[in-house]
Amino acid sequence: MSRPGDTATPAKAGGQGMWGGRFAEATDALVQAFNASIEVDRAMAFEDLEGSIAHATMLGEQGILTPDEAATLVAGLRDLQRQVEADEVTWSIELEDVHMNLERCLTERVGAVGGKLHTARSRNDQVATDFRLALRARIHRILALLHETRGVLIDLAERHLDVIVPGYTHLQVAQPVRLSHHLLAYQEMLARDQGRFRDTLSRLDAACPLGAGALAGTGFPIDRHRTAALLGFTEPAANSLDAVSDRDFALEFLAAASIAMMHLSRLSEELILWSSQEFGFVTLPDSHTTGSSIMPQKKNPDVSELVRGKTGRVYGALMGLLTVMKGLPLAYNKDMQEDKEGAFDAAETLATCLRLTADMLPRWQVHAERTRLAATRAFSNATDLADYLARKGLPFREAHAAVGRLVAIALERGVDLHDLDLATLREVSPFFEADVYRHLEVEAIVDARDSYGGTARQRVEEQLLRARAALAEEAAQAATAREASDDTASDDTASDDTAQGSR
Ligand code: ARG
Repeated sequence: MSRPGDTATPAKAGGQGMWGGRFAEATDALVQAFNASIEVDRAMAFEDLEGSIAHATMLGEQGILTPDEAATLVAGLRDLQRQVEADEVTWSIELEDVHMNLERCLTERVGAVGGKLHTARSRNDQVATDFRLALRARIHRILALLHETRGVLIDLAERHLDVIVPGYTHLQVAQPVRLSHHLLAYQEMLARDQGRFRDTLSRLDAACPLGAGALAGTGFPIDRHRTAALLGFTEPAANSLDAVSDRDFALEFLAAASIAMMHLSRLSEELILWSSQEFGFVTLPDSHTTGSSIMPQKKNPDVSELVRGKTGRVYGALMGLLTVMKGLPLAYNKDMQEDKEGAFDAAETLATCLRLTADMLPRWQVHAERTRLAATRAFSNATDLADYLARKGLPFREAHAAVGRLVAIALERGVDLHDLDLATLREVSPFFEADVYRHLEVEAIVDARDSYGGTARQRVEEQLLRARAALAEEAAQAATAREASDDTASDDTASDDTAQGSR
């Protein structure tokens, strides 16, 4: 058993590791396991080292450490970054978390000077900084995937410009629409999702917690603006209590992730419905479907079902963290250690769901005759018949009632509206003339809806152009940002929205 204060030897199971001084008894083994966060926070080892490099650099510049000491620490930390990237670090639960594990690794590497790294710093400002950096990297990756998925939707919309599908309200056939119009609706949703993630980034980047200390700041002459700049933040957090206890950035991230998952889930639900035998609108690719162990004929849309299902765990992460935070007095509380697992899981889940959606969609097969047929059934042209009468001067309310009577007649005869002969139509309203049938063709119906944002071919083409232009603009901005960051920083942690970042 280690003696209290015996910090020079590696912590043993049941020891009191880094803070031995005031403890006479060893930590209970279950308490140690319960308390440890290394299994989760090792995922931000790279960011922890990034924060430490900035901190050590600043300590050297401010004369808090000698230039030699700072240089030794920075060199050791960079070596550790390489080790982390090569997955060569052995993590120990006795050292509780990523911060203490890495500090121990550093000390083993550079000797006693490693113990100076924690001057003017606490794990509280350290973890708040690391977590922001780790989420920043994940947000950049998600932004890139959202961008790519929008591109896939736009390409598909272009490919399926002339495919007509039933449009639904209440999942009852309502009016025919272009499939491209339907796909571009999701493109709009994902564009707003990107906006939400960018907003999250802008606030996340506006406040660097490092230097807030445990809660009250520090008496050492640190330069918080310098560390903030080194880590790519626009400013240091203004209030040290807020700096160590704020997790809004993670909540915003989870809220944005939840909304994005909700969008993917709705799309998945449609793929599940559309690929069913009853609809038969699309066939999903073999690569993204599975069979049954008992029913040889089955082809199940498991990927779409899982995207729909995994939406629940992302919502769960949001509700979990909101609940963790709601009763906490200022400033840091250990409860907050529960913040990372759900957030990292949500990031991974969303990224994987976007990847799968973007891969699967272009490989689907669309059954255009079947969707067209479905779009002409179930009185989907009833509104157009009423519009016809309204254009002849009948008040729309009366036109609606007249067509309602025609629907009843058609239902009784077991036919569609366009199967009713002119005499029947004229019995209900003398405004009907022979040209009415031309207005009931499905293409004519779709192209008649030519109001801004409508489903007419020309309007959908305009939507396509706008969406393509916005996407190209975004790619150009990302390229400019990439060039700028290549020029200024050699080891910038930030990537850009269109890069295929993997970390
Ligand atoms: N593992 C801790 C967390 O994730 C790090 C901060 C610990 N701070 C402390 N005062 N015990 O929250």
